[in-house]
Amino acid sequence: MLVINTIAELTRIVDEVKSEGKTIGLVPTMGALHDGHLSLIKRARLENEVVFVSIFVNPVQFNNQDDLVKYPRTLERDVELIGEYADYAFAPTVEEVFPTPPTEEYHFGPVEEVMEGAARPGHFNGVGVIVRRLLDWVRPDKAYFGEKDYQQIAVIRELVRQCDIKSEIVPCPIVREPNGLAMSSRNRRLTPEQFETAANIHRILVESQQLEDVPQIKAFVEAEIAKYPEFKLDYFEIADADTLQTVHSMADAAGVMGFITVYVGEVRLIDNIRYK
Ligand code: PAF
Repeated sequence: MLVINTIAELTRIVDEVKSEGKTIGLVPTMGALHDGHLSLIKRARLENEVVFVSIFVNPVQFNNQDDLVKYPRTLERDVELIGEYADYAFAPTVEEVFPTPPTEEYHFGPVEEVMEGAARPGHFNGVGVIVRRLLDWVRPDKAYFGEKDYQQIAVIRELVRQCDIKSEIVPCPIVREPNGLAMSSRNRRLTPEQFETAANIHRILVESQQLEDVPQIKAFVEAEIAKYPEFKLDYFEIADADTLQTVHSMADAAGVMGFITVYVGEVRLIDNIRYK
């Protein structure tokens, strides 16, 4: 696997691959790779002739500077981990990607106005900025994203629609730790005790699937989360799986999901679950 650091080299290689008529899969990441990322990369490997993985901690999608500074960076290990499955790792510097501060402004509509969009102003614009650039540079047939960031996928689908980008967006299921915790690069910042306690987020969501209607589920999840002094609930929303707008009854939408964000100590974790 070759590590590419510049857009010029990336463009040259993409042009070469395209001229050979080969299909391209792209897995955009911010590094600190784990088995969740590997599942996307392995799927990209199966479905494409050439696989690119981008590794770039995108500063413009962080609305919290402390989170950006503390975001784990493990490039050497990442490169080793994916060597077997990817053909190219694109790992540019911030100056390479943003020689001047980006000025693009996207408006993704209702899907970005709720949950993560409401809690993290500017976050999805920053995601749009980097994903648009990566899709323009790599021109993949397929790009792979994990469903832990379910709302991000809805935003990226809207980006692709608005910008008439031809790449197919492929959502991939959440990969979990043996204790049920959704895999996330941020899990590395948890102490061993917090890591074990954080598993209760998924347990509570799974138990809530036994309940019948929305108010019951909401009350149950909020009360259960409140039992753990280490947890601070940011939000728990029950929403239409397509529009991401809040539902008040299971009858309100064809697909209904629960979306949760919990601080475990200082670490902000997100997860989701499908009810129907
Ligand atoms: O999901 C992520 O890791 C990031 O938001 C992404 C899609 C790589 C853009 O920086």
